[in-house]
Amino acid sequence: MDPTVPDKLPTHLAIIMDGNGRWAQQRMLKRIVGHQRGAETVKMVVEQASLLGIKYLTLFAFSSENWSRPAIEVRALMTLLKKYIRQETARMMRKNIRYNVIGNRGELPDDVNQTLDVAIRETAGNTGMVLTLALSYGGRQELSMAATRLTRDVLAGKLSADDITVDLFGTYLDTGGLPDPDFLIRTSGEMRISNFLLWQLAYTELYFTDINWPDFTINEFLKALNDFQSRERRFGKTSDQLNKGN
Ligand code: IPE
Ligand code: IPE
Ligand code: MG
Repeated sequence: MDPTVPDKLPTHLAIIMDGNGRWAQQRMLKRIVGHQRGAETVKMVVEQASLLGIKYLTLFAFSSENWSRPAIEVRALMTLLKKYIRQETARMMRKNIRYNVIGNRGELPDDVNQTLDVAIRETAGNTGMVLTLALSYGGRQELSMAATRLTRDVLAGKLSADDITVDLFGTYLDTGGLPDPDFLIRTSGEMRISNFLLWQLAYTELYFTDINWPDFTINEFLKALNDFQSRERRFGKTSDQLNKGN
């Protein structure tokens, strides 16, 4: 039976899209073919998430640590990324989706940055879903950069060390302005966070599936969202308190 569309959806959905390489290797194909097939899954998930009314979708597309992969794979991923953004911007306009990027953009090749700038600028006025791509992103790197910026502001006298609160610190992160993710999906059976959104995932519901990203279908997506619907998010409170609404 096909899963039904859940009525309680995450406001912010984050996804660690993993397993492209293994998907390809299991089929005696080159890893890049797995990435190409993975890009098709991205299109499906972006389209479905926006249709369902999810407000924020954040995709882990390339980590700070992924720079250590063989140069040929890194180059192929950058080319694929550029192609994807160029091809998809028209669709983002039709679907009223706004692009956003987190991560260390200074490490990305110039042509990739130019393509991203165009896409961000063109979609800046869109008021529907915010699609955040995590590129050259690492949670620890983001946190240490935030600490640097915060320290600079303290030294410049813009604020005092005693003004630093959880909320203020959050505004110094790349994700400042985005709510924390309610739900995280990771495909491919790995049960780890791999340096993704370390601060922001503090109370996120986690979902792991063995399916590799290129095989992640609409049904698998709805299955995951249905699982989210069944979670009781207590944020430290007791179940009784939540049921009594206090
Ligand atoms: C995820 O798939 C895509 C990126 C990390 C860029 P992988 O390339 O990590 O696939 P596996 O984990 O090797 O199967
Ligand atoms: C995490 O996947 C990064 C992305 C999905 C972009 P990896 O495949 O790089 O993670 P590890 O190294 O296996 O933890
Ligand atoms: Mg992987």
